[in-house]
Amino acid sequence: MNVILKTEKLRVEYRNRDFRQQSKVALVGLDLEVHAGEIFGFLGPNGAGKTTTMNVLLGFVPPTSGAASLFGIDVRQPIARQRIGYLPELTYYYKFLTAEELLRFYAKIFGLTRAETDKRIAQLLKLVELEHAAKRPIKGYSKGMQQRVGIAQSLINNPDLLILDEPTSGLDPLGRMKVREIIQRLKDEGKTVFFSSHELGEVEAICDHVAIVHEGQLKATGTVAEISAGHTNLEQSFLKIVGYQTTLVP
Ligand SMILES: Nc1ncnc2c1ncn2[C@@H]1O[C@H](COP(=O)(O)OP(=O)(O)O)[C@@H](O)[C@H]1O
Ligand SMILES: [Mg+2]
Repeated sequence: MNVILKTEKLRVEYRNRDFRQQSKVALVGLDLEVHAGEIFGFLGPNGAGKTTTMNVLLGFVPPTSGAASLFGIDVRQPIARQRIGYLPELTYYYKFLTAEELLRFYAKIFGLTRAETDKRIAQLLKLVELEHAAKRPIKGYSKGMQQRVGIAQSLINNPDLLILDEPTSGLDPLGRMKVREIIQRLKDEGKTVFFSSHELGEVEAICDHVAIVHEGQLKATGTVAEISAGHTNLEQSFLKIVGYQTTLVP
């Protein structure tokens, strides 16, 4: 199968501005492979290195050593990112804009024609179930609706690979379910989705493959079934992998 996202022995050290303090090692030789067409769940507790990995792929953070590539092109070359869409962990949009205006703004950045823009916006508002709210300012949206605008924005250039940093964090169960359904629809359209999460239930429900990172290292990778083998579910397996002894009986 076609590998479209790859990291090899990826190491990232953040230098501390205060020279008395040590640099912080966020990734310790991370090896990852994501294949075309899959939904890939990137799991790990807070501080594991998930956002750092995405920031390397996006060209925001340089690798200290090792390598990362998208579509076989080294991420140090901006062209590697031509076919990706990205949703950051926190989004800041002009809240006085409506969803439609916001998407129009991003379409302009990507140089879409007027006709392409109209068609794309209609498709995206339908995909993220915001047609009814398209002409209302974003500031009146719920957190879930704001997150769905973010997903629509990340899709404006019709990318082949979506990188979503904790797309469901902070959403209520209905909001999470809607995002999950959108991710599933994207897969059905043939897109590859690489997303980070610590919501193990949702990962179990929608992912083809998962990787578990802890303290900057890859602890396990495989299908959900492979990783949960020998445990009650993915959560139990996850807790074991990150070395947590629970006193609750599963
Ligand atoms: N800009 C930074 N400078 C110094 N340390 C950082 C920086 N960004 C992240 N870190 C540290 O790197 C580690 C990994 O962080 P991060 O990639 O954000 O983890 P995750 O997204 O899995 O929660 C954490 O220990 C975090 O404190
Ligand atoms: Mg993060």
